[in-house]
Amino acid sequence: MSFSVSPRRALRDLFPYQPGKSIASVQRELGLKSVVKLASNENPLGPSPRALAAYRKAERSNALYPEGSSPELRAALGRFHGVEPESVIVGNGSDEIIRLLCESFLDVEDEVVVSQFSFIRFKQQASMRGARVIEVPMTDWTHDLELMAKAASPRTKMIFIANPNNPTGTYNTREEFEGLLSAVPKTALIVLDEAYVQYAQALADYPKTLPGLVRAHPNLVVIRTFSKAYGLAGLRVGYGVADAELVGWLDRIRMPFNVNLPGQAACVEALKDAAFVRRGVALNGVQRARVAQAMSGLGFGIGESATNFLFARSPIPGRTLFKALLRQGVIIRPLDEYGLPGHVRVSIGTPAQNKILIKALGEVLSRASAAA
Ligand SMILES: Cc1ncc(COP(=O)(O)O)c(C=O)c1O
Repeated sequence: MSFSVSPRRALRDLFPYQPGKSIASVQRELGLKSVVKLASNENPLGPSPRALAAYRKAERSNALYPEGSSPELRAALGRFHGVEPESVIVGNGSDEIIRLLCESFLDVEDEVVVSQFSFIRFKQQASMRGARVIEVPMTDWTHDLELMAKAASPRTKMIFIANPNNPTGTYNTREEFEGLLSAVPKTALIVLDEAYVQYAQALADYPKTLPGLVRAHPNLVVIRTFSKAYGLAGLRVGYGVADAELVGWLDRIRMPFNVNLPGQAACVEALKDAAFVRRGVALNGVQRARVAQAMSGLGFGIGESATNFLFARSPIPGRTLFKALLRQGVIIRPLDEYGLPGHVRVSIGTPAQNKILIKALGEVLSRASAAA
């Protein structure tokens, strides 16, 4: 007998999110011992040793439920950003915050404005609610905030911006962002996803949003994550900072124990380890320049990046490159799901990982040109 219960109408055209391929799956499928993953923009240095120590200490209490609303982590984040803990919501990755926002604020047919090649989860989560997604073209692979503001109407409920953006690696300036804030109706929520903020914040014209802009604009929510510069992607912890009333709505619908106990403890400690974040950002800067130069030399078109990854036009189709690199034990990210079959995204690794990547790229491309 076949399954015959119909799901919600809004779900019918959706596909499951395709995460970057895991090291374990490549090892299993191709029988490889050593695999380098440069596909999900994780921190190649791993977690901060201080966060890891806090995790290990806390895991002894794993028989107990965690505190449901992550109060210590909320308080630590409040201190870190200079806001009240009531203005902070902690989630199972920042992905959960995106979901909570959509579930709290979007009704069927509400309008949502996104940028053409913005982080794909925005569109997916909004579509799950049955919202009408308006996609605004980019300019030079960068969100065109003026055009996005123009696309916003009184029917617009939410505007999503990732700054810097995944997968294009570009960023919007303070001036551009403030222009958007003043142009958009106050009835629309501006969701600013700063997953890669640590890699961009030293740029002179990068916007400083916390705490001032969130205080001044109750319709602005800033999302951040422990998955990138903090090196804790496996723990699944992210958060949002916004008006306390907005946070109250999200709190009503989040799962009762949405963030695990050692995760909460590790993130409190991770916030204190500024030296670890600085070290990772500095290494990323040096290595990103090296990888960009080497890839340009191999015929890739490399865009400017304010992140820990490169967005690259590939000399051969992205998926062909991805598959050939897998056989060499290197995982990168093809961008077909973004409608960019000629581009790939490559995370910046350790010096040793980047060398393996460059060597593998050279081999794959010389084989491809010999076969052509
Ligand atoms: C822009 C952006 N936002 C959010 C996320 C989700 O991060 P997490 O759920 O691990 O916090 C990612 C992950 O790649 C991202 O690139």
